[in-house]
Amino acid sequence: MSNVHLISHPLVQHKLTLMRRKDASTSTFRTLLNELSNLMAYEVTRDMPLQDIEVETPLETTTGKIIDGKKLVLVSILRAGNGFLDGFLNVVPGARVGHIGLYRDPETLSPVEYYFKMPQEMQERDIVIVDPMLATGNSAIAAVDRLKQLKPRSIKFVCLLTCPEGVAALQKIHPDVAIYTAAIDRQLNEHGYILPGLGDAGDRIFGTK
Ligand code: URA
Repeated sequence: MSNVHLISHPLVQHKLTLMRRKDASTSTFRTLLNELSNLMAYEVTRDMPLQDIEVETPLETTTGKIIDGKKLVLVSILRAGNGFLDGFLNVVPGARVGHIGLYRDPETLSPVEYYFKMPQEMQERDIVIVDPMLATGNSAIAAVDRLKQLKPRSIKFVCLLTCPEGVAALQKIHPDVAIYTAAIDRQLNEHGYILPGLGDAGDRIFGTK
């Protein structure tokens, strides 16, 4: 699959397996997601562009490198996307954060936007969309559609888990959006859940049911 980055680091795989366990408590699940998003953020930001600047050390002047351009924007797809934010912000503390709220219209089953709040000057920024589960791909596609209207410099999509159906759907409409994931599971079931998956990510993060 092109433009899909499977993050196979042993720590990522280990923590993901612990999160899948049905008896993992809410606090364990949340802690693991935090740790995992920290590790994933490191991989996702690997190709961030750099620029040279002059820096004065206590001894002499030299050239150092800093991240080029406006600060990164993390865009959380509500509500489960919020579970990714703390871990990412540990690695990129200066990042801006946007939120998109989408619900599924019961008649058409299409995603409908109910909330959209982004930082200023999006046309100069790199966007990282975060949502733990890329399942049908409908929310991801709607989020990317909407964000592309703001003409950002780039868009990446980061999830914990996905499935062949979700990857295919997002790549068909937005082949330019790189997908970062810790696993591609077997399939989607008839209710839109990933199998074997980890259940409802939002419920597991927030302790709701
Ligand atoms: N959303 C979830 O939280 N879990 C799934 O398996 C699919 C979508």
